[in-house]
Amino acid sequence: MSNRDKLKQLIDLRTKAKLGGGEKRIEAQHAKGKYTARERVDMLLDEGSFEEYDMFKEHRCTNFGMEKQQFLGDGVVAGSGTIDGRVVYVFAQDFTVFGGSLSETMSQKICKIMDMAMKVGAPVIGLNDSGGARIQEGIQSLGGYSEIFQRNIMASGVIPQISAIMGPCAGGAVYSPALTDFIFMTEKNSYMFLTGPKVVKTVTGEDITVDDLGGAYIHASKSGVSHFVAETEESCLMMIRKLLSYIPQNNLEEPIATECTDPIERKDDTLNDIIPDSTSKPYDITKVIASIVDDAEFLEVHKDYAKNIVVGFAKMGGMPVGVVANQPMYLAGVLDIEASRKGARFVRFCDAFNIPLVTLVDVPGFLPGSKQEYGGVITHGAKLLFAYGEATVPKVTVTLRKSYGGAHIVMSSKQLRGDINYAWPTAEIAVMGAEGAVEVLYAKEISALETPEAQAAKAEEKKEEYNNLFATPYQAAKYGFIDDVIEPRNTRFRVIRALQRLQTKKDTNPPRKHCNIPL
Ligand code: HXC
Repeated sequence: MSNRDKLKQLIDLRTKAKLGGGEKRIEAQHAKGKYTARERVDMLLDEGSFEEYDMFKEHRCTNFGMEKQQFLGDGVVAGSGTIDGRVVYVFAQDFTVFGGSLSETMSQKICKIMDMAMKVGAPVIGLNDSGGARIQEGIQSLGGYSEIFQRNIMASGVIPQISAIMGPCAGGAVYSPALTDFIFMTEKNSYMFLTGPKVVKTVTGEDITVDDLGGAYIHASKSGVSHFVAETEESCLMMIRKLLSYIPQNNLEEPIATECTDPIERKDDTLNDIIPDSTSKPYDITKVIASIVDDAEFLEVHKDYAKNIVVGFAKMGGMPVGVVANQPMYLAGVLDIEASRKGARFVRFCDAFNIPLVTLVDVPGFLPGSKQEYGGVITHGAKLLFAYGEATVPKVTVTLRKSYGGAHIVMSSKQLRGDINYAWPTAEIAVMGAEGAVEVLYAKEISALETPEAQAAKAEEKKEEYNNLFATPYQAAKYGFIDDVIEPRNTRFRVIRALQRLQTKKDTNPPRKHCNIPL
């Protein structure tokens, strides 16, 4: 073969590899409203930045005549590229090749880029679209999954790992995304479950559709398995790019601060009036977040799950921060099982990747009741408590209104190594609300009164007395649990200045094999 022919051979092989499972299957993929693996990678990465590896790798299976069915690259497109100029490693399962099913070879390709990402200290992004374990390979395929899982575990907290589900993701295959930091799902065509509707029907008799069992909406709102839902594949890939702009390349780096054109001393007078006079009336905490962060830009995580707590990324003075805030608009912002798990996971992610935490508190307490107790609210609530207490990143807290009981402690209180704790003049920081306190302290005295009117008047008098004494920020400020009471309209400036002062903060935890967070 002449050198010219050798060159032609290379070009022909590349062309063949790029066709994956062939034109017909590509058409079928498009007909479902889905892009191919290569199209997705191109959309995700900076133009022309993709460097593909193992394009010529083939599977080694000989069962069921598989040796005669070879596709260059074997069902996954893998390599490195850049997003906004920063290196990322990416793999995209190619549904046109054996339904993107995972073979030993595919696993080797994925593991190779995961290993490279760990050496270099760069994020890994997995675009999943697969029929699960390659059935013809049997145990080899399962071994392949295990190799990936082990790497997911070792990479956790070292490099950011992001999964997008853009098609089927079933069986044990769901556990690789579950081990990563964030899961994106596309509104149509994506689903995740351990066992599909047919097995569910056989085992439990339940009739259920694919979407109701494991569609994007279900995982975003009910199970909390997915963190983001995107309307389209394009918007999903753009959201991944956006998410990465808040996150450093690895746990040894700081997140990248960008130029801030939104004045840091910007005041917002509407904040002085945002808290309603009646303490039982709600207001929308996302308005406060939008007001204090740069350019009102907030990337909300787990938007449709446990809406009583809001978590997400923003920039303040150009610095990426993780925002955690109780949402009075939903269940009065109470902490329950789901909210505690959601908050804890987010706080731990931020802490692992050196992203400072800004916490906005308006929490009436933990949700009482047998449903919560039987569900283990003690253990789940302890997760959030643990996560805040363990976190060594800068922690700036602002108490807007209620901050009662155990929930007060949990929400980044001073004693959980909160660095700067501010309160608005409307803050109520106490062991419990006036209603409960009066019931406990004065029940006998009140019931001794003869008429219901007299009892009601006494209860009101005691409540007012209690509120005047405790439903303020000044008891906490008196003991230094609150560092300053600030004017609401100055919140942006005060928080940014606190974050600036804390930039060189160093805090450590004792050496140990690992902590034992109440899982
Ligand atoms: C080999 C597979 C495959 C698989 C699909 N294909 N899944 N090949 N192993 N797991 C092939 C099909 O034979 C077909 O090949 C092509 O991919 C497209 O599949 P279709 O069925 O035509 O596509 P569609 O109608 O869109 O249905 C997609 C699907 C279905 C819902 C994913 O293919 C399906 O149910 N697949 C099996 C899912 C499954 O049970 N997987 C094992 C789960 S257990 P041709 O040549 O016709 O194009 C598991 C354990 C993992 O994964 C444990 C990890 C710890």
